[in-house]
Amino acid sequence: MNFYHRLSSPEKSELDRQIASLDWPLVHQLVQSVVLKPQTWKIPADLSPPTVYPYVPNDASQQEKYRKAFARGEDLLRQGKIAAFVVAGGQGTRLGWDGPKGTFPATPVRQKPLFQCFAEFLVALAKRYGRAIPFYIMTSPINHAATVSFWECHQYFHLNPQQVMFFPQDMLPAISFDGKALLETPASLALSPNGHGGSLLALHKSGALADMQRRGIEQISYFQVDNPIVRCIDPLFIGLHDLDEAQMSSKMLPKAFGKEKLGNFCLVNGKLTVIEYSDLPDSLAEQRLPNGELRFRAGSIALHAMRRDFVESLNDHGFALPYHRAEKKVPCIDPISGQPIKPDKPNAVKMETFVFDALPLTTRSIIYETSRTDEFAPIKAPTGVDSVVSSREITTIRNAEWLLAAGVQIPRRPDGTPDCSIEIAPSFALYPQDVLARKSDIPPISAGDKVYLQ
Ligand code: UTP
Repeated sequence: MNFYHRLSSPEKSELDRQIASLDWPLVHQLVQSVVLKPQTWKIPADLSPPTVYPYVPNDASQQEKYRKAFARGEDLLRQGKIAAFVVAGGQGTRLGWDGPKGTFPATPVRQKPLFQCFAEFLVALAKRYGRAIPFYIMTSPINHAATVSFWECHQYFHLNPQQVMFFPQDMLPAISFDGKALLETPASLALSPNGHGGSLLALHKSGALADMQRRGIEQISYFQVDNPIVRCIDPLFIGLHDLDEAQMSSKMLPKAFGKEKLGNFCLVNGKLTVIEYSDLPDSLAEQRLPNGELRFRAGSIALHAMRRDFVESLNDHGFALPYHRAEKKVPCIDPISGQPIKPDKPNAVKMETFVFDALPLTTRSIIYETSRTDEFAPIKAPTGVDSVVSSREITTIRNAEWLLAAGVQIPRRPDGTPDCSIEIAPSFALYPQDVLARKSDIPPISAGDKVYLQ
């Protein structure tokens, strides 16, 4: 590079530190296999939909299985065998929030940050089952310090700091189409996190898996940082996964329409695989069964249960997940003139891993269907679909359903949506059935009210 000699000493040491932190043999291998040799993907010939545990059990024997599974999940919690794991290393470019995404004010009434939602859920769960729940938080080198200081500032939202572990994922450089690492500034490479699949490597490299082993953790409940109403640990789901001796399992949502932007759960040569919505041809995405249902109806919402020993096995002989090529517009500097470049079309390849690529590596995996209103309100963008606005609306709709089931009157707009905002803290209710016992604490709700229940 032409600029090194012009950098100040601190700039030089920062760049040296950055360069030393990267896995260059891996980068070299990926330049050859991912950047210079564009990946081709062909729709597999042997493709079929997987079987799924339905949201509501089909018959009496399945109902009995769900009862047993819920009890198993609760037992695992009582025995302290489940850890919660959130991946919070993404860049959140679509949201455009100045800070880690987990610090974003999410809830409809108190505007609690996403991290607080998870902490309160885990505090309430630990109280119910009489056992602390270890919480692992994956950051990236970009947001690690800000994430840790946010938690410290808020005294860990009443979690015991001994139970909360932070660790950053690895970064990879953006590579130009001719195979060179790009510079973002004269003193810094253009780096980005190695994808959410990098969490399964970071769990190993950081010592988190070893820490889990010391604590007697057998199961990991994996979720993303952007969903304020996620059940950080769901005894029913993790119980089904454990009873069936699965290695890694998934929750799914029935897609609202064929080309909805969710990964598609498919069986490829008998192996469970997630095919991205952009890769599934329209003819298959839209295909319907005689009963009118989509044939490939199971959409991935990135909620997984995984055995700790399965994640360990993914790291036994180097890291097992493949790297994908993503062509992106990466702001950088011209390596000769040093002039900034703001590309208007993709100029580089980013290399990323996806957590769902671990699924085909399992010998046993289950999928459990969940309900959209019950636990899917992601915040990806400021407005529109999957925005803070839609997330707050879904949260209120979910909470209104919980209250209605306990016989509470909900004011409605002409279109049927609740004419109020309702926030239920996990200390008030973890499950809909908890509401009944607290019914006397719920005030009458009028149009336009903002109701907070704790
Ligand atoms: P997204 O696909 O929504 O990406 O991540 P993002 O980086 O947060 O947001 P955009 O695409 O830049 O707008 C889904 C989940 O995976 C985590 C994110 O933090 C989020 O919880 N993730 C993603 C990581 O932890 N690391 C990554 O490298 C990528």
